[in-house]
Amino acid sequence: MPLSIVVLAAGQGKRMHSDLPKVLQPLAGRSLLAHVLGTARALGPAAVHVVFGHGGDTVRAAFPDGDLVWCRQAEQLGTGHAVMQGMPGIPDDHTVLILCGDVPLVTAATVERLTHTAEDGRLALLTAELDDPHGYGRIIRDERGGVARIVEEKDATDDERRLREINTGLLAVRARELRRWLARLDNDNAQGEYYLTDVIAMAVEEDVPVEGVLAADPAEVLGINDRAQLAAAERLYQRRQAEALMARGVTIADPDRVDVRGTLEVGRDVFIDVGAVLEGEVRLGDRVRIGPYCVIADSTLGTGSVVHAHSVLQGLEAGDGCELGPYARIRPGTRLADRVKVGNFVEMKNARVAAGSKVNHLSYVGDATVGAGVNVGAGTITCNYDGANKHLTVIGDGAFIGSNTALVAPVEVGEGATIGAGSTIAKDAPAGELTVARARQTTVPGWKRPVKKAK
Ligand code: UD1
Ligand code: CA
Repeated sequence: MPLSIVVLAAGQGKRMHSDLPKVLQPLAGRSLLAHVLGTARALGPAAVHVVFGHGGDTVRAAFPDGDLVWCRQAEQLGTGHAVMQGMPGIPDDHTVLILCGDVPLVTAATVERLTHTAEDGRLALLTAELDDPHGYGRIIRDERGGVARIVEEKDATDDERRLREINTGLLAVRARELRRWLARLDNDNAQGEYYLTDVIAMAVEEDVPVEGVLAADPAEVLGINDRAQLAAAERLYQRRQAEALMARGVTIADPDRVDVRGTLEVGRDVFIDVGAVLEGEVRLGDRVRIGPYCVIADSTLGTGSVVHAHSVLQGLEAGDGCELGPYARIRPGTRLADRVKVGNFVEMKNARVAAGSKVNHLSYVGDATVGAGVNVGAGTITCNYDGANKHLTVIGDGAFIGSNTALVAPVEVGEGATIGAGSTIAKDAPAGELTVARARQTTVPGWKRPVKKAK
């Protein structure tokens, strides 16, 4: 049976106390809704309808993708009312799967079980057994163990509140029946809302079989209503990713102290120490080692490269056998060939560095092309900015830049050139020669230090 998916994303999320609509709150660097839409798309549905409302067009604007059908729910009158807004355009013979924008961790495999269950005309309801069911709707079963109805926490009796089987908010059923039941909903309940959950009792009444599908892992169905649940979901998600990485052969010093906010590609025998934050698209080659407390975003590190503690790398492409940090800072546009060393307190931006070169201490290399086998001494600064424009520094192969050199761009240091320490190089320095640009050292013979006058 063809599948249409309705994603509920119109709620405000009052308990977040945020200016951002709840479904746009980030989990592992992507919005809650982005996670849910990823799961929805993985099922290959005929259509994905997203019900939005609170926060106006900010939610819609966050997803410019053309494959989504946006359905506005002008007033948030409840989950049943929300689904109603999402139904137009869905053919009667489709299975409708309802996902919630605030239930982000559910896996495609679990919702697939749900849609399969619904295929022969049943209503499939995803449930879970929770140690702490507080806040969720409870599943009421009849004497034969079948699902009879759902009661919301606020409408439940004390006995019903003690039930630990809860409604996850996710269900699948044929569009024809769902449409008929939605039209019959009323808002005669504690919250004055049109509850989607009331369709369960209607199905039972019509002898449509209701199947409770139990989520294998209750962590999957965590609904995010406040910041504490958001933090809990973040840790669960990160733990899941860490376990997947370990299963692929990565050594992780502590799986509870690594955060991947994006996609991470790894080679063999990669090691990641504690406190690593990996953002965007990161690729780590074979035997790469990431030291403690590093932040690495949108970067590639070649085979055997090592990043020492507290380094911040953004937009780096590094070859094999490079070594960075501790305390290296790399900004976008930096390309290091093989065996380049970037040491402590070195900042690089938009720099190309050829094989085997070293910038070991306390330097700024920005808008620069550095040849192979170059040694850049401690405290070297490329003065790339004249207050109005940025200029390029070019350093030839095998050059040696003495410590505390200022290279005033645009400027070129020739192949094999040597620059004396403390130089300010504002004109090109010829290849193979020693260039020194600093005040000459003089000694004043017989000079005496002043002495204190007697009072
Ligand atoms: C809902 C279920 C509850 C279940 C819980 C699981 C109902 C009546 N209750 O309760 O049984 O245990 O989810 O997490 O369905 N939304 C709209 N428009 C609205 C109202 C809600 O789009 O008018 C969206 C929200 O953005 C959210 C989802 O529907 O994504 C669930 O709404 P929420 O208010 O969080 O429902 P719960 O009280 O958690
Ligand atoms: Ca909720």
